[in-house]
Amino acid sequence: MSAAGPPQGANSIPLGNSEAAELANEAASLGGRHLAVEQPQGANSTSVGSNEAADLTDKSASSGRARPAVPRIIAIANQKGGVGKTTTAVNLAASLSAMKRRVLLIDLDPQGNATTGAGADKRSFTNTVYQVLLGEKKIADVRVVSPTGGFDLVPSNRELAGAEIELVDLPERETRLKDALAEALSQMRAAITEVAPDYDFILLDCPPSLSLLTLNGLCAADSVLIPMQCEYYALEGLSDLVQTIKKVRAHLNPTLEIEGLLRTMYDPRNTLAQNVAAELERHFGDKLYRTIVPRNVRLAEAPSHGIPALQLEPQSKGALAYLALAGEILRRMESAPAAEKAS
Ligand SMILES: Nc1ncnc2c1ncn2[C@@H]1O[C@H](COP(=O)(O)OP(=O)(O)O)[C@@H](O)[C@H]1O
Ligand SMILES: [Mg+2]
Repeated sequence: MSAAGPPQGANSIPLGNSEAAELANEAASLGGRHLAVEQPQGANSTSVGSNEAADLTDKSASSGRARPAVPRIIAIANQKGGVGKTTTAVNLAASLSAMKRRVLLIDLDPQGNATTGAGADKRSFTNTVYQVLLGEKKIADVRVVSPTGGFDLVPSNRELAGAEIELVDLPERETRLKDALAEALSQMRAAITEVAPDYDFILLDCPPSLSLLTLNGLCAADSVLIPMQCEYYALEGLSDLVQTIKKVRAHLNPTLEIEGLLRTMYDPRNTLAQNVAAELERHFGDKLYRTIVPRNVRLAEAPSHGIPALQLEPQSKGALAYLALAGEILRRMESAPAAEKAS
């Protein structure tokens, strides 16, 4: 199975309606400085050979480049469940870590899947991200080293479900409640600020909802990475997420950007998936990562071992795809004039 890019050609299905165009415009307006720089490197640029991936790891490890002054804080969000958020969070954390970046993964989902996937026993923690969100503990008090991934982890478990409050149309709410919400929503950002110098990347694995937890992630983040499956309704959920991002920008975090859209669980033999992938490329262009994560059994079984795919089977298509994604994110940051000024 290959992770080659989708065909650009004739068989496209009509996702291309005015709504999609509008969405693309909105996404562009929410986009960051580094979204317009990545160029496709040819038709099959999304596949990455094992040598290429190894080369990528070596180069970035030995570059000796100065570290950025502040970490890049990326929320991995999509209110749809099962689109690959947690898989992306864990495997991107492991890949950036393999590229010698200092990474903190914050599990914001009461399901604690990122915690398990990073090799930690979620039931063993009395202090988790929940205490951090309540302001009772600092990140430095609750973080642990992922025993299998090499990055730091702020764990989560079911206790966090107590923090779930659905947001109902924030701008309509009366002022005092808005203030209280704003304070609650700034908790993660405040906690992150204290450990920021320790990291190059902070990844937030958000739950499958547009809840207070996801909003906390969006308020704390510089940008949002949106994993999505190449299915017909992919754009529908995206529209809700873009609206939420707009609200967060308007009321809580004016500098929030879209980091990028990631196509996940891609099956190149599935014609519909090919066509949707091609449509997404047409509509979102540079906003879309060139890297496509294929459907890969190692990615699916790695969580049951509590081991990122990169450590479980470094040559697997899934592990290589996430290495490629890490490389693409680093390249985008390096080509962005405003980013990594510290070097
Ligand atoms: N690229 C992939 N190939 C195969 N299985 C995948 C892939 N990405 C995710 N999965 C599996 O799909 C399910 C949902 O993925 P997950 O990352 O937990 O999604 P989310 O966090 O968005 O709910 C999990 O069982 C996971 O192991
Ligand atoms: Mg998840």
